[in-house]
Amino acid sequence: MHTVTTILPNTLAAKLEGFIDDANAEIEAAERDFCSRYPDYEQTRDLDALRCNGYARLDDLGHTYLDYTGGGLFSTDQLEQHTALLTQNIYGNPHSLNPTSLAATEINESARHAVLDYFHADPDQYTVIFTMNASGALKLVGEAYPFDENSHYLLLFDNHNSVNGIREYARNKGAKFTYLPLLPGTLRLDEAALMRNLDAANSASHKLFAFPAQSNFSGVKHPLRLIEEAQSRGWDVMLDAAAFLPTNQLDLHEHQPEFVSMSFYKMFGYPTGIGALVARKDALEKLKRPWFAGGTISIATVQADAYYLHVNEAGFEDGTINYLGIPAVEIGLKHLQKVGVPCVQQRVTLLTAYLLDFMKQLKHSNGQPVINIYGPTDTDNRGATIAFNVYDPNGHVFEYQIVETAANSQKISLRTGCFCNPGAGESAHGLTAEDLQPCFINDRMDFTEMAERLVEKHSTDIVGAIRASLGIATNFADVYRLTAFLRLFVDEEAPQR
Ligand SMILES: Cc1ncc(COP(=O)(O)O)c(C=O)c1O
Repeated sequence: MHTVTTILPNTLAAKLEGFIDDANAEIEAAERDFCSRYPDYEQTRDLDALRCNGYARLDDLGHTYLDYTGGGLFSTDQLEQHTALLTQNIYGNPHSLNPTSLAATEINESARHAVLDYFHADPDQYTVIFTMNASGALKLVGEAYPFDENSHYLLLFDNHNSVNGIREYARNKGAKFTYLPLLPGTLRLDEAALMRNLDAANSASHKLFAFPAQSNFSGVKHPLRLIEEAQSRGWDVMLDAAAFLPTNQLDLHEHQPEFVSMSFYKMFGYPTGIGALVARKDALEKLKRPWFAGGTISIATVQADAYYLHVNEAGFEDGTINYLGIPAVEIGLKHLQKVGVPCVQQRVTLLTAYLLDFMKQLKHSNGQPVINIYGPTDTDNRGATIAFNVYDPNGHVFEYQIVETAANSQKISLRTGCFCNPGAGESAHGLTAEDLQPCFINDRMDFTEMAERLVEKHSTDIVGAIRASLGIATNFADVYRLTAFLRLFVDEEAPQR
């Protein structure tokens, strides 16, 4: 593995001494000032009480957690409820008819219904297939979608790799696939180009359009009305809702994509290892599973070389489902409902506005900006995820490893790199196919080596970014500590290679 040893510049290391205590001492006054500028924040005060109860460990352990797009956080009462459920009942493998098995079936079916209810999905129209995560949901569609030489897969530059990976299934079956570029600067979709592409594939047999409801790179929210635009032109729509759902509501009564992918740990932190494909029953009928497994068939024979696949969700859940973990999904959904996603959304939007304003205004003594934000710089149609890099007074970038190392030393959790969304990163850094192709010709390399090579060739000053993302337990103090941390870079010189 390629490892990077990052040594902090002495001046920065010196500023970090005692930094967190100083920042903490400033929070009260800063929050008063913030509230006078963003008075609606007062409406979200219940979330401070929540933070003190279910999420007290963040402050007890001195963590500033700003990686909610990576993983959400659970409230301790979710765990307590789950533990009580497991310790006060006996659950067996749900594939039988004995009492413990039936109890497991009942509680898992209840979780399935809770997912449908949460999304206002009509049970006659939609079903829930439990998977390991959002990637598992996407793979189920990718491997079973009836791609052939006459079909088409359309996706955005702004997709997670687990959506990008479906292109390999399309390619292997001879289907055409097309990527829609993002507009430079805003990293939003070029809607006119999308409509042209949606119209262009008129004669294709099966057409699948995949897009993220919210970018896990830039926080851009792509309009949900694209679902209907695509469907009215004969496309099936795969909505990747993984980064959207933790702070937004999706209503499957209003928008009815064929497939929706999600990971529950992103929404409410616990349990990990469970996601779902929420799928329209009519769309599932179109899918052709490449194999069968225990649990997915009503019967199979060895000698007659035949099998009958279950219809709906049972035909897609391979082997034994996570029957002890899945009940925690219902607990998590109830937790979100009690807390209120609109309230979380309001809070993180106001805190994002504050962060964006701060980042835009932060300047070195010579007037040069400290932060370059990738994507929208206001809160219109964007979520609480901000990708950025830090620059010195001479316009030289701080390698993100330096920023990350400095943040780590203060228990500030940020994410760095390309966040498994290479297309958005390439768009943000202005990289072209010609820049990238040479990295895939001879030797295998990892992301850091590729980034170094691209920088060496001068096609960009940096590859990779820093990401701060807010979520259910974020409070003003977290965001203030980030601003205080970024202020340390004012008038700092970036080490040169
Ligand atoms: C938009 C988006 N889609 C898909 C995924 C994949 O999720 P998982 O790793 O849980 O499968 C992620 C993870 O960050 C994501 O942000």
